[in-house]
Amino acid sequence: MDARQQSPSTARNREPILAVLQLLLGERARVLEIASGTGEHAAFFAGAMPGWIWQPSDPDEAARASVAAWCADLGNVLAPAEIDARAAGWDVAGPFDAVIAINMIHISPWEATLGLMAGAGRLLRVGGLLVTYGAYKRGGAHTSPSNEQFEQWLKARDPAFGVRDVAEVEAAANVQGLRLREVIEMPANNLALVFER
Ligand SMILES: C[S@@+](CC[C@H](N)C(=O)[O-])C[C@H]1O[C@@H](n2cnc3c(N)ncnc32)[C@H](O)[C@@H]1O
Repeated sequence: MDARQQSPSTARNREPILAVLQLLLGERARVLEIASGTGEHAAFFAGAMPGWIWQPSDPDEAARASVAAWCADLGNVLAPAEIDARAAGWDVAGPFDAVIAINMIHISPWEATLGLMAGAGRLLRVGGLLVTYGAYKRGGAHTSPSNEQFEQWLKARDPAFGVRDVAEVEAAANVQGLRLREVIEMPANNLALVFER
């Protein structure tokens, strides 16, 4: 049975996200991905950049099986780790040059973002980067009607989910010694937030 799952959004966002990561990380980097989901990003990024050592993770067992299946032929992708961002300790050995979380912050409880920041603060080397990608509010307001509709959909799924404001994510990062270095506008009203330890 083929464990590979597919997410339609990955085909649309993987190239712009890869371009950002290439600029930020260069040729060689040890990367921890939180919330790898299907594993399509891991396979695409690690396939394009053989000098990156990619540690995928997800709390969901079926997702981890999907990641492993997508990345089976890639020698620079490690076995997916079971990581719930909220956990006090993560079962991976740092330090990492980068921690990446794509489309996680809005579709998990706020505690997952707090955990993401704490984990990145623990496991990033000094000067290492946390990159989060997704939909965000700015100045307390949605950046587009489609993001507002998206938040309604998220809240109907789980009231604990929601499009977070860049400022509240930044404040959570600051507590863990992470500084917001850059906000990069991405296609389809998404942002990439780049934090530095
Ligand atoms: C919308 S999917 C995004 C997956 C992938 N990054 C992508 O962009 O296609 C959200 C992912 O977040 C994961 N997730 C939810 N809660 C989490 C948590 N507390 N810690 C880590 N990952 C979590 C889910 O298992 C799921 O794989």
